[in-house]
Amino acid sequence: MTPKPVTENTLFSGDNLSRIGGMVMDALEALMTRRSVRAYTDEPVSDDQLLKILAAGMQAPSANNQQPWHFVVLRQRQHLDGLAGVLPFGKMLGQAPLGIVVCADVDRQPRAGYWVQDCAAATQNILLACHALGLGAVWIGVYPRDERVLALRELLSLPAGVTPLCTIAIGRPAEHPAPVDRFRPDRIHEEQW
Ligand SMILES: Cc1cc2nc3c(=O)[nH]c(=O)nc-3n(C[C@H](O)[C@H](O)[C@H](O)COP(=O)(O)O)c2cc1C
Repeated sequence: MTPKPVTENTLFSGDNLSRIGGMVMDALEALMTRRSVRAYTDEPVSDDQLLKILAAGMQAPSANNQQPWHFVVLRQRQHLDGLAGVLPFGKMLGQAPLGIVVCADVDRQPRAGYWVQDCAAATQNILLACHALGLGAVWIGVYPRDERVLALRELLSLPAGVTPLCTIAIGRPAEHPAPVDRFRPDRIHEEQW
C-alpha cells in the first residue's frame, strides 16, 4: 500500500483540532515514562499517527521562532535499510517501519548555532509524541559526526545549507523498557552553584 503524502496538514482544520486532544497521555507521565525503544513489530505506523508525530515536532520552541527544521520521512524498506547501513548505532532502522531524519536549514538562523537546540527540541517532542501514541522510538545521533553527516547528505540528496541533526527510528514496540528514575539531588544548585 502506498502511504499517503504527509505534506497536507489536516490536523488543525475543522473537527480534527479536537482529535489532537485525543492523543492524551498526561504530559508529565509521558516524559517520566519514555524510554528508547529499539525493537519493533511489523505493524506499520498509520498516516494519522505520522501526521501527529510531525505536527508535534513542529510545535517545538525555536530561537526567534525561526523553525529551521525539515523532516525527511522514510517509509520504504530499501531507504530505511540504506540509512541503517551508514549509521553504526542505527541498525534498528533495518527493522523499523518508519524513520524521520531531523534536519536544519542552517541559513534560517537569527544567529549562528541555535539550530542544534531548535532541532533537538523538535526531536524530543517527536519522541514524546510517539510514546503518547503507544509507539516506540529512539534518537540516533548524526551531527556532529562529520562522516555520518556526509553519508546522510549523499543518501538523502540534502541541498547545501541543510544539515541533519539526527535520525529517529519509530515503530510499534516489540520491547517495553521500564521507566527509570534519574532524579539526582546533587545536580541541583540553589541560588548559586
Ligand atoms: C544526542 C543523542 C544521540 C543518541 N544516539 C543514539 C544512537 O546512535 N543509537 C542508539 O541506539 N541510541 C542513541 N541515543 C539514545 C540514548 O542512548 C538514550 O536516550 C539513553 O541511553 C537513555 O536511555 P532512554 O532513552 O531509554 O531513557 C541517543 C540519544 C541522544 C540524546
